[in-house]
Amino acid sequence: MCGIVGYVGPQQAAPVLVEGLTRLEYRGYDSAGIAVLNPRSKANPSRVVRAQGRVRELEAALPARLAGTTGIGHTRWATHGEPSERNAHPHTSGDGRVHVVHNGIIDNFATLRSRLSEEGVELTSDTDTEVVAHLVARELETGSSLEDAVLAAVGQIVGTYALAVLDVQAPGRVVVARNGSPLLLGVGDGEMFVASDPAAIVRHTSQVVLLDDGDFASVTADGFHSFTAGEKKTARAAVTLDLTVEELELGGHDHFMHKEIHEQPESVERMLTGRLDDRFGTAKLAGLNLEPRDLRRFERVKVLGCGSAYYVGQLGASMIEDLARIPADAEPASEFRYRNPIIEPSTLYVVVSQSGETADTLFAVREVQRKGGTVVGLVNAVGSSIAREVDGGIYLHAGPEVAVASTKALTHMSIGFALLALALGRVHDLSFADGQRIIAGLRALPAQIAEILAGEEALAAAAEELATAPSLFFVGRVRGYPVAREGAQKFKEITYRHAEAYPTSELKHGPLALISPELPSVAIIPEDDLVERNITAAQEIRARGGAVVAITHPGVELGDAATSRIEVPRNEVELDPILLTIPTQLLGYHAAVALGEDVDRPRNLAKSVTVE
Ligand code: AGP
Repeated sequence: MCGIVGYVGPQQAAPVLVEGLTRLEYRGYDSAGIAVLNPRSKANPSRVVRAQGRVRELEAALPARLAGTTGIGHTRWATHGEPSERNAHPHTSGDGRVHVVHNGIIDNFATLRSRLSEEGVELTSDTDTEVVAHLVARELETGSSLEDAVLAAVGQIVGTYALAVLDVQAPGRVVVARNGSPLLLGVGDGEMFVASDPAAIVRHTSQVVLLDDGDFASVTADGFHSFTAGEKKTARAAVTLDLTVEELELGGHDHFMHKEIHEQPESVERMLTGRLDDRFGTAKLAGLNLEPRDLRRFERVKVLGCGSAYYVGQLGASMIEDLARIPADAEPASEFRYRNPIIEPSTLYVVVSQSGETADTLFAVREVQRKGGTVVGLVNAVGSSIAREVDGGIYLHAGPEVAVASTKALTHMSIGFALLALALGRVHDLSFADGQRIIAGLRALPAQIAEILAGEEALAAAAEELATAPSLFFVGRVRGYPVAREGAQKFKEITYRHAEAYPTSELKHGPLALISPELPSVAIIPEDDLVERNITAAQEIRARGGAVVAITHPGVELGDAATSRIEVPRNEVELDPILLTIPTQLLGYHAAVALGEDVDRPRNLAKSVTVE
């Protein structure tokens, strides 16, 4: 949620900040702002420019000359206070001395606000963040350094934060603090950067310092000094980032979502490289940090993720049950922590996340660990909080995903689950021959995904028709049900049309009442042992006047059970859902394009949900 960028160095800060914010816009896009320090100007030692809307509105609001080589910037996803210029960051203390940008939520902001008001401080926004600017300013008034002032202010805050703070009287310095929201430093040559996400600074440096919760840093052009509340100096080393500017460009596509869908054949190939073990018919997953004997001791698997990652988790659980024959289920990580879950040492907990920063998932990791459980992660973002806190894991290697609606990362998640299920299966009951069968299926995926993408034109035509319906169903059974859930999720996220998923078997228990010519269904009908039942259910929809777009396999005789059919190539039955999901990505995408919606930045959403 929200994005932070900061700069100290010889360059003019404003263009660096605006470029960084543009790359961060997918994290929050209801308002944006920057603050720049210019000690040479007696009249304007600091300038703040904020605007409601996109970064382009901010750019339009910038004065022709905005000199200064130290600055901070922010894109916002509103939590407290409506999206507006007055609620946009940076927030400034009453005396104009302190500027603050913040990601996260300050839980005790109401208490702090009323205390500050009682003390005569005039609050000019509805945000939780503004209190930080006032608290820091008060500490500075007592003669504290900026570092000590931030330390003392943060000591009064309860909540999550990534903060970047400027003091007009300490130009050439940004002080940052992290607790529960991602924050990193970029190390340049005679210049330093601050960012909530590496995308903001990738054009300038690949050397980054990933801050941990409880870390503070004082950043100048020459470098940084890190510390915590208990230690005056801590050692934080830089690591090299594996990310290029090209990966963050549209590369000829109209939208990032389209680019990311089309990257899948290549990215899946890359993900599988070195992970398939033909000799033993299993998967090589060194990052799990679990030996075969450790894997054998698990009697149950619990998958935790949010949103689409949870739906893929459902699919993953069924792959684990299929291949390893141990009980597995998935639960929204957002619910898990709040029901005081029983953590069993014989259960393997698996969290799944593209961003690696989803607060609900991160807190689920901590809950499992606090109670002595083993938790591994299927994570895309390298070095993210979840990746760093889990006991082991599988990196998804999907590359950066910019579109808010996740596509390729979800495909990589399901493949990650197939690899995990294979490894678990081979230390339980799965035969060598079955292991080899799954390996062959996995190897076939890149070419099969490419084959599905080659049929994009027909999918676009089907999507345009679906887009005219105010509401639609996605239905599927057993392994096809998570596919339907994800298909509905993708559709509603970016088209704003009501799309609901049901297990096909549940239709006759209620939802069938809604079927009419105005409510089409997308039905997942693979060629498996349920194919006849699925066709019957589709016929029941057709009999009530509902259109059926079937996503199916070649050779499945649908007769008049479908109004149109989309075919995907067959793989192994356990892996088929991976391919059945791909057309739903293009259906959602093309429906949103047909409706003229902002595909990459759907309203009310943000790419990574770092608040609970
Ligand atoms: C996917 O299209 C959604 N934007 C959303 O449901 C997402 O999958 C969810 O918020 C989890 O994100 P994560 O994978 O980064 O943890």
